[in-house]
Amino acid sequence: MSEGILLAKVARGTLLPAPERLARLEEALPQIRAALEGETDSVALQATLACLLWETLPQTNWCGFYRRIEERLLAVGPYQGGMGCLRIAFDKGVCGACAREARMQLVPDVHAFPGHIACDDATRSELVIPVLDDAGRLRAVFDLDSPHLDGFSLEEAEALSRLMNEVFQRGLRWD
Ligand code: SME
Repeated sequence: MSEGILLAKVARGTLLPAPERLARLEEALPQIRAALEGETDSVALQATLACLLWETLPQTNWCGFYRRIEERLLAVGPYQGGMGCLRIAFDKGVCGACAREARMQLVPDVHAFPGHIACDDATRSELVIPVLDDAGRLRAVFDLDSPHLDGFSLEEAEALSRLMNEVFQRGLRWD
């Protein structure tokens, strides 16, 4: 039975200073890679990433995936946090914008993002990263919410983007 990942315990909702957050993520990455080693099922990878990144990123109140179930429709996948919206169309919200443009969305203040979908009123900032398969097709988006303004730095966003590419672009079985 794996122990998850070994990191200093930090209370849920804590916004550490940006350099400390990046150091914590970098400390977690080799453990996350080891935990996912050899896994080829996309849902098993999504569930484990949601769990381990929830532990790694205490500033979050939601951490999980929306999967592409139709050409322009997302449905919620594995996640940690309060109840998420079940379906999001490509023309809706931050997740829709990320899927539509296949481009990361780093939102320091969700109230300044036209059309932001508030699954949780406490959310103040958001980061959404496209999940592409090894043919470059968008298969899902990885969504992070925080109850803090500016809860995610560009460095965190870029490190998480690299991780998503590394994990999901290796000949996986998609549902
Ligand atoms: N806020 C997202 C919807 C999903 S919740 O954050 C879990 C959006 O605007 O797309």
